[in-house]
Amino acid sequence: MQVVLGPDRSRLEPDRRKAGERTGPTALHPATTEGQEKMTRKIAVIVGCGIMGSDVAAIFLSQGWDVQAVARDETKWDAVRARVARAVQQLDSRGTVGTLRLVTDIRDLAWSGVQFGLETVPEDFEAKRKLFAELDRLVPPQIPLLTNTSGLRISEIARDCATRERMGGLHFFLPAHLVPAVEVVRGELTQAWVIDRLSNILRSVDRIPIRVEKDVPGFLANRIQHALMREAFAVIDEGLARPEDVDAAVRFGFGFRYVAAGPILQKELSGLDTQLAAGRSIYPALNTASKPSRVLTELVASGHYGTKTGQGFWKWTPEGIAAEQQRFERALIAAVKLLKEDGQGTNHIPVEPNSGGATK
Ligand SMILES: NC(=O)c1ccc[n+]([C@@H]2O[C@H](COP(=O)([O-])OP(=O)(O)OC[C@H]3O[C@@H](n4cnc5c(N)ncnc54)[C@H](O)[C@@H]3O)[C@@H](O)[C@H]2O)c1
Repeated sequence: MQVVLGPDRSRLEPDRRKAGERTGPTALHPATTEGQEKMTRKIAVIVGCGIMGSDVAAIFLSQGWDVQAVARDETKWDAVRARVARAVQQLDSRGTVGTLRLVTDIRDLAWSGVQFGLETVPEDFEAKRKLFAELDRLVPPQIPLLTNTSGLRISEIARDCATRERMGGLHFFLPAHLVPAVEVVRGELTQAWVIDRLSNILRSVDRIPIRVEKDVPGFLANRIQHALMREAFAVIDEGLARPEDVDAAVRFGFGFRYVAAGPILQKELSGLDTQLAAGRSIYPALNTASKPSRVLTELVASGHYGTKTGQGFWKWTPEGIAAEQQRFERALIAAVKLLKEDGQGTNHIPVEPNSGGATK
């Protein structure tokens, strides 16, 4: 069952056709009928089977898609399958890991019937640039090619590609199979049909596409997240609060509300006048540093990366890490269920945009 999470976006999103934007079909956008799409099995291609690639593969497998994935080291295939199978099991699944086909080389992928290709190789500009140059030559031009980069610009990665109009960003959040939102990021030359097609595909696999119109650093969500993280680390630097108090203030304080409403809707509910007054008095005291905080820089310089190294703000045992990971995932799975139940009642959310002068 397809459940819409959040306000009815069809009523929120501007009608692009009215704005004169090209939505296809174009030379790169072959006509496919709905009937044809229903009859053929859907196939996704994923290049890179680490943390993100495995979890993204699970999203599509769990919805009955076939997935072809490039995992270069064959000795790790069992581990890849095990991680994917675990993630598929955590989802409300109607598919299985049995329809995952692994290959060691992108030249062994079959592109017939593929809906899109996504790269999830490490965050290294040169590696991604080379990979896109190869995909540019190998992949039929009607297939969208996406990068899951956290911060690099697709416009730069694809700068020398002949078919860069079908290339864009598809930014999943960790753990990708549990976090519902996915940013669909438009590069300088990405055509509208690519964004539209990916947004539709994401909705069809129970995800919430977030359209981001420019590939600026941090896209949309990470800009907001890092603004929060800068202040969170700064208050520790200043001795205002301990790390556990920062966590509690966000998780059980204002952050607790985010499972019910985003920050803008929440302020709409509580009063924009109060928000304006609070902003006037608090903004001048907020951190505006252009460099990461002292405590973060020192921890990383000392080799304390968190659970990865057994020490960060806290000390970890292997048992403690496993227990924390399980608790974290259990809570996210419960939150997804809650959001789906809440999604049934989104009609009561006021979705009529205010077209008055103040919002122009
Ligand atoms: N981990 C996160 O929290 C997170 C969140 C959002 C986005 N991302 C982005 O997703 C991408 C992948 O991150 P990750 O955490 O999964 O990394 P990872 O290191 O866990 O996985 C990358 C995988 O790609 C493989 N690989 C490297 N070069 C390859 C190539 N040419 N062809 C095929 N496979 C290749 C590696 O062997 C590895 O298995 C990065 O761009 C990262 O910035 C990560």
